[in-house]
Amino acid sequence: MFGINIIGTGSYAPELKITNDDMAKIVETNDEWISTRTGIKSRHYTNGETTWKMGLKAAEKAVEAAGISPEEIGLVIFSTITNDFLTPSCACLVQDAIGAKNAAAFDLNAACSGFVYSLDTAKRFLQTDDDLKYVLVVSAEVLSRIVDFNDRSTCILFGDGAGAVVVERSEKMYSSYLSADGNGGKVLYATANFPTHPFRTNDADDFGEGMDRQDGYLFQDGKEVYKFATKALPTASSKAAEKIGFDIKDADWFIPHQANIRIIETAAKNFGVSMDKFIINLDKYGNTSSASMPIAFDEAVRDGRIKKGQKLCFVGFGAGLTMGAIICEY
Ligand code: UT7
Repeated sequence: MFGINIIGTGSYAPELKITNDDMAKIVETNDEWISTRTGIKSRHYTNGETTWKMGLKAAEKAVEAAGISPEEIGLVIFSTITNDFLTPSCACLVQDAIGAKNAAAFDLNAACSGFVYSLDTAKRFLQTDDDLKYVLVVSAEVLSRIVDFNDRSTCILFGDGAGAVVVERSEKMYSSYLSADGNGGKVLYATANFPTHPFRTNDADDFGEGMDRQDGYLFQDGKEVYKFATKALPTASSKAAEKIGFDIKDADWFIPHQANIRIIETAAKNFGVSMDKFIINLDKYGNTSSASMPIAFDEAVRDGRIKKGQKLCFVGFGAGLTMGAIICEY
């Protein structure tokens, strides 16, 4: 089987820690509501650090853990929905700063499924390009840039952070499933707003039907996203497992997108799998979109919970709408 070997992990969260009690100072909320509805206790926000610079910090740790020279990296994939620039990509900035001078680089946007989409893209590049030795996958987000701090139902959920992995080709077990439903785009979106040209006569941008919030802040229909997420998590994992005849109960660890503890508990119940098999850190970081899985993964690798040879299931779901899962051996 063509698979991947994850040879290095890294993560980074900015210093500024915001507790639920801190959130209660700016919106009408309280620790009890946030904890019971989401499982989140605190999150980290940047104090001016940009997405690519946070990604760079996670990437440096992953490259160091991999014990490779940056010049051996042939591709940098950076997943984010909160790019610092429309161009250049965050991937190009990391490629330069880390000294990966022989690497191609591009950004990938699949929202909270971004890490799974990127890791699977890395695998496919490795599979089709014999000259490619190592791929650096980075996921980083500054969601505090786009959340509306007047909207208590969304601002309490999100945080900032970054995670990264270095991968090479291997013969290990591997399967993936990716899917999208753009028709659900309107339940979770943020518009990109630009200056206009001097010849325009129409002030309104045509973003599409149902995309009524156009101020650049994140809009979320929480109930619809919740319904989608509780189905997406088991669907994506099962579809990836089915492809290789893998019994999902045999996974040693699930590394789910860290959105809401209730969504993860529902999936665990659905699979008949103990919550002890789920890597959870959303209590500390909130929902960091595409960065959530590689941060949780890096922590569990570094504290020794996840060990070489164990079978992993990464599973993500989010805006787009997108979902995806990877089953692989660590
Ligand atoms: O990575 C992207 C994936 N996104 C997600 O996974 C989010 C999925 N959705 C959710 O996790 C949940 O829908 C939320 C946590 C966002 C909201 O939980 P809910 O159980 O769906 O609450 P709700 O929106 O139905 O609101 C229930 C009540 C409302 O008050 P009333 O109308 O019943 O009086 C809200 O106004 O809770 C109120 N409320 C709050 N109260 C205190 C909403 N936000 C807050 C808050 N603090 N922060």
